[in-house]
Amino acid sequence: MSKKVQIAPSILSADFGKLTAEIAEIEPYSDRIHFDVMDGNFVPNISFGAPILKWVQTKLPIDVHLMIARPWLYLEDFVKAGGDLIIIHSEACEKSGKYTLANVLKMIKKLGVKTGVSIKPKTPVSVLKNVLPLLDQVLIMTVEPGFGGQSFMPKMVKKIGQLKAMGFKGEIAIDGGINAETGKVCADAGADILIAGNYIFGAKDRAKAAKSLKM
Ligand code: DX5
Ligand code: ZN
Repeated sequence: MSKKVQIAPSILSADFGKLTAEIAEIEPYSDRIHFDVMDGNFVPNISFGAPILKWVQTKLPIDVHLMIARPWLYLEDFVKAGGDLIIIHSEACEKSGKYTLANVLKMIKKLGVKTGVSIKPKTPVSVLKNVLPLLDQVLIMTVEPGFGGQSFMPKMVKKIGQLKAMGFKGEIAIDGGINAETGKVCADAGADILIAGNYIFGAKDRAKAAKSLKM
């Protein structure tokens, strides 16, 4: 592996009753915090929203992964609550009109934070063709969004090379089913950020689990 990947623990798998302590425990071994927002509409599960993000205390940058319908309605809330990078789903944006992917990304930029787009397993990277210059990060889902602890989909790894071949120079993050083994496959393929929930928070020795991803 040529460069070190960044580790982004997903607090979806943490104990929400002691979130501050949970984050403090993994912070020394992490580069950023991944905050998974689910609405029970875009995905079949509900997690948490901006009022909880407000209470997340960390020195690390917070990446907000919005797995929600009509994300444009909530961008400001998540920025005000402390998000440093807002990731929307391409599938949640309108095909035409006011809230196309490009327009929603411009709205995020106007709020003064970094931009990201996530694509579900069935969505090809080609949908991002026209928005690459607006993007700081592309997040490739390696499970169907909605739940932590699912199995990694190896066929998604080729999307990393495809994005690079399209000329994307920003960060590439991988989300879903990451452990030391699948993480290595992604890092070898050129991923910049490994997001891991269950593998880190479900481990007896969380420090060891996080360190094992730092390849
Ligand atoms: C899935 C979320 C992921 C998830 C990762 O919908 O976007 O960030 O929490 O969890 P693991 O690492 O457990 O697959
Ligand atoms: Zn996520």
